[in-house]
Order: sequence, then C-alpha cells, then structure tokens
Amino acid sequence: MAQATFSSSALFAWYDRHARDLPWRHRWPDLAPAYHVWLSEIMLQQTVVATVIPYFLDFTRRWPRIENLAAAPLDDVLAAWAGLGYYARARNLHKAARQITDYHGGQFPQTYDGLLALPGVGPYTAGAISAIAFGQNQVVVDGNIERVLTRYFGIKTPLPAAKSQIGAHYAAIMPDQRPSDFPQALMDFANAACTVKNPICTASPHACPFASGCIAGQAGEAESYPVKAPKKPKPERRGVAFVARLPSGEAFLIRRDDKGLLGGMLAFPSYGWASIDQAYDPSTPFANAPFAADWQLLDTPVQHIFTHFALEMDVAVARIAAPIDTGLASQKWQNVRTADLPTLMRKVWKLAKDAR
Ligand code: ADE
Repeated sequence: MAQATFSSSALFAWYDRHARDLPWRHRWPDLAPAYHVWLSEIMLQQTVVATVIPYFLDFTRRWPRIENLAAAPLDDVLAAWAGLGYYARARNLHKAARQITDYHGGQFPQTYDGLLALPGVGPYTAGAISAIAFGQNQVVVDGNIERVLTRYFGIKTPLPAAKSQIGAHYAAIMPDQRPSDFPQALMDFANAACTVKNPICTASPHACPFASGCIAGQAGEAESYPVKAPKKPKPERRGVAFVARLPSGEAFLIRRDDKGLLGGMLAFPSYGWASIDQAYDPSTPFANAPFAADWQLLDTPVQHIFTHFALEMDVAVARIAAPIDTGLASQKWQNVRTADLPTLMRKVWKLAKDAR
C-alpha cells in the first residue's frame, strides 16, 4: 500500500482542540512578535516548556522590548538567565539584541539567511522565527517533530544521519495554510500525543488522527522511533570547589572568565574540571585553593551533567575570620543569592551552607 499523504487539516483540527496556551504564542492569522518568538526559542533549546515559562515572563517584564535587553548590562542578563544552563545562549542573546538594535534599527531581519547570521541562531531557530513570527513557509524540525515524522514515514535511518531526510519530508507535507501554526501544532501533538513513551496509538490507535497513515503506528512500533545512533558514554571529569565564609555569612565568590564553561557567571572558585590544562588530584584537594585556610573536604561530592561530560565535584569549605584579598579583580565577598548562581554552583552551595 502506498504511503498515505500526511493530512495537515487533521493536524490543525487536533491543534484547534488541544493547543497549549503559552505566553509567547499567538494563533494564526495573528503573528507573535519576533522578539518573543526568538527569546522563547532560544530558551527552549535544551530546556523544557514548564521551566522556560517563568523565565520568559521575567525577561519580558524586565526588558519589554529588544532595545531594553540590548541596553541591559550583560551581568544582569546572565543573572536573570541563572538556572537555565548553557550560558553561551545568554551571551549570544545579548550580543544578538545589540546587533539588532545597533545595525537593524531594532527590527529582526525578515529573511531566513538574515536570521541565521545572528549570534546563537542556527537553522532550527531561523526556521522557527521565519515561520512563527513572519508566517513564512520554512522547514522547522526540532526533536519533537523528528519523532512524529520518523514514525509517520517509518524512517529507520538513525539520527543524526536522518536529519536531511526528515527535513525533506517536512518540506513535502508543509501546507500553504497557517504557516505559523503548523510547526507549533506538530510540537504540541508530539508533546501531548506522539510522546516518547506510551504514545496514544499504543493505548488507543483510533485516538490518533494519523493512525491510518503512520507506518510505525500501524506496525505497533512507534516507541522504537526515532532510531538513534548508539550514544558514546560521557567522559567523566573531577574537580573541586572552594566555599569560604565569614562570620557575617558572606562567602567568597568570583566572576568566571567570559570564555569557557559557565563563562561570565558568578561562581565559587573551583579547579580541575573546566579546562584540560588543569588536572585535579583528589589526594591533594586543597593544592589549588584560592588562599590558605583551614579547608575541610565534605564527604559527598556534587554530581552534575554537562553536554559533553559528567562532573564529580568535591566541595571544600572553610570559615574565615576576616575578608582575604586575593588580588583577583573579579573576587567578591558577598551574601549568596542562589538565584544568581548557575545550577552547578547552587548544588555546591546547598551542600556547603549547612556544613560546619
Ligand atoms: N518547543 C520549542 N518551540 C516551541 C513552540 N513554539 N511551541 C511549543 N513547543 C516548543
């Protein structure tokens, strides 16, 4: 039997009943502001919708227009981003806001290529802004859409090699109608119905509007898609973080270099994990402490997963009688506000604050 064509009308009918009400979302023919689409899409890279919503609301309340974001100090943007992870996204966000304000009169470029030239904007985000903010027919394929399309078309090529095939299928099924709704409808459908585990076809095949045309669903194999190339285990790294506190409760913090992991973020001094030039020897944990003190090692290290490695970070704590000047320009003795720290450093602080 020939493959049935994908019915975008069935998808729109589903979306009209089940679309999520998201703060950055408008419904065709109304188009969401490019600023909101861009901001939400950058936040949604690597982060789930429920986590993004309060950050999106906070950013748009503080910086209602892209000019406001461009005018904000980078440190404020990084502090507002704290907890979302992948801080290069926040630095690129700020850089792109400045470019748009300084060179494009505050208006987003309206072409795919113009969008692609912005810092932090790759093919997915350029496609999403083109389609969602400008109503253009552009290919938009994220992990959710990959799942729906590999199942529907029975694409067995493992990811990431399947990407171009998936993009070609997307281009072939993209309707002329409702260009801003189409990718968002696919994403919501993927999220609510064509889920990774227990998609609706496994419980009730007739509940899926695409059941009759879906190759994986018909074979009862939806959960085996998308096929992924076997993952290499993540390398492991070790390091140590130093938390020194004054009797007043203030702690010793630094601002990390702009370049590299957690670049530009507020952090406890740490050693051995962020650069291959540093080798941490757990048998001499205090060898690279920021200053001499009565350092004590906590029993439990912090575990944290980065994109390319898994980190086990020892935590050393010390009580200090009076502030020590290390000569570091970026040092600060200050009260710890967890909201300003990246997640790794929040975990360090959680263990350290109750110790000794
Ligand atoms: N994930 C990424 N972008 C999204 C959007 N616009 N709607 C729903 N989920 C998304």
